[in-house]
Amino acid sequence: MHEKDPLFQPIKIGSKTSPNRFAINAMECCDSDENGNPGPKTYRRYRNHFEGGCGVIVLEAITVGYESRSRLNQLSVMPRNAKALEKFVAEMKSINKDAIFVWQLTHSGEISHPDFSKRVTPKQMYGFEGELLEEDDVKKIQQQFVTAAKIAHDAGADGIDFKVCHGYLGSQMTRPYNDRKWAYGGSFENRTRFAYETYEMINKEINDPDFLVGSKVSIWEGFPGGQGSAGPESALMDISESLELCKGLEARGAKFIIVSAGSPSITLALSQPDAKIPRDVYTHFTFQKAVHDVLKPETAVIGSAYSVLNNGNNKLVTRRKEENTLEYWGNRNIREGVTDMIAIGRQSLADSWIPRKMLEGNENEIKWCTACDNCIEFLIRQQNVGCATRDKEYALALKAIREKEGMLKEKKT
Ligand SMILES: Cc1cc2nc3c(=O)[nH]c(=O)nc-3n(C[C@H](O)[C@H](O)[C@H](O)COP(=O)(O)O)c2cc1C
Repeated sequence: MHEKDPLFQPIKIGSKTSPNRFAINAMECCDSDENGNPGPKTYRRYRNHFEGGCGVIVLEAITVGYESRSRLNQLSVMPRNAKALEKFVAEMKSINKDAIFVWQLTHSGEISHPDFSKRVTPKQMYGFEGELLEEDDVKKIQQQFVTAAKIAHDAGADGIDFKVCHGYLGSQMTRPYNDRKWAYGGSFENRTRFAYETYEMINKEINDPDFLVGSKVSIWEGFPGGQGSAGPESALMDISESLELCKGLEARGAKFIIVSAGSPSITLALSQPDAKIPRDVYTHFTFQKAVHDVLKPETAVIGSAYSVLNNGNNKLVTRRKEENTLEYWGNRNIREGVTDMIAIGRQSLADSWIPRKMLEGNENEIKWCTACDNCIEFLIRQQNVGCATRDKEYALALKAIREKEGMLKEKKT
């Protein structure tokens, strides 16, 4: 009987209601068509998600500009994509009108891919070295976000997640490392200007109280000068600014905060806890509680990094197996005010039907994520992303990659 569990209680987010506490986290899967519109594999994935019953579905990082992509086949949200995106939303909503559909709007900044995009940055960092942004450039980027939010709104999306996590432009702007003396760097006030101004511009343009605006935030990026560090050169953790940032976003209308950590191109195992050393799941819980404590009760806190817990087959087992599962910690964290909702990332590729299977008494059929991380390997290789452990099509794709690699190695020796 799951119906009475915290995970199955509805929750209000702005004027909308999520039927349960499960969210699908943004998962870029690199399978748009050549114009950045959803392709056949994108449709297949989201049809499946909408059938599976999660209350909130976050559309993967969709780029607001073609020159700021990290992935060749990344979804785009520009005027030329509007019609295709409208069709996409209409189909998804016809499958399940109750799921709240939020789009993660992003600009990759210094982690735009140099082969097909342009690296730009508030302050150059070793290993990335983008072109320095000036104030006029920032104004243009903000306008891209506003246009993208308007397209999302008019296409029928329920809201947007203005990305301030994982080392993308939102993070690059807010992190202490951005101590360059300019309107968008140096003091905390200057570093948050990009996010706060963009929020205000989006709210003004859309002017619809039912449209949800929120953000996914890295509370601690885990490297010197990253978000949540004590200064531009400091390796020490000090999350007070990250909490101020969440409060500042809330004051400018954020209805939800998706709590995350890490910057995958530098600290991958912090963003997505590693199967072998999964202890950062608990670091995420700590951040979720810290955010939950400083925000108003009506702002929904959505926690990340639950996939590695799965059904207890994880290396966190220090107690009874049934007390180390995603279900156990999800229920307990909601009950104890650590988070309001839990998001599934890698698990959504393995099987996003957790709510439906649990409610229909088919939980034994849930295909649990093993945190093998083949999905991120596909992404790093710029290939279509899927679950090579649970989906035959992607298992074969991975096999082909390995065989090709083996042949190349043989050739070399
Ligand atoms: C293949 C892949 C793609 C991802 N794409 C995104 C993305 O588009 N936006 C984002 O904020 N996080 C992205 N993430 C991170 C996840 O949303 C999530 O924060 C992380 O995987 C931890 O959650 P999990 O333990 O449930 O997987 C991605 C992760 C993976 C493995």
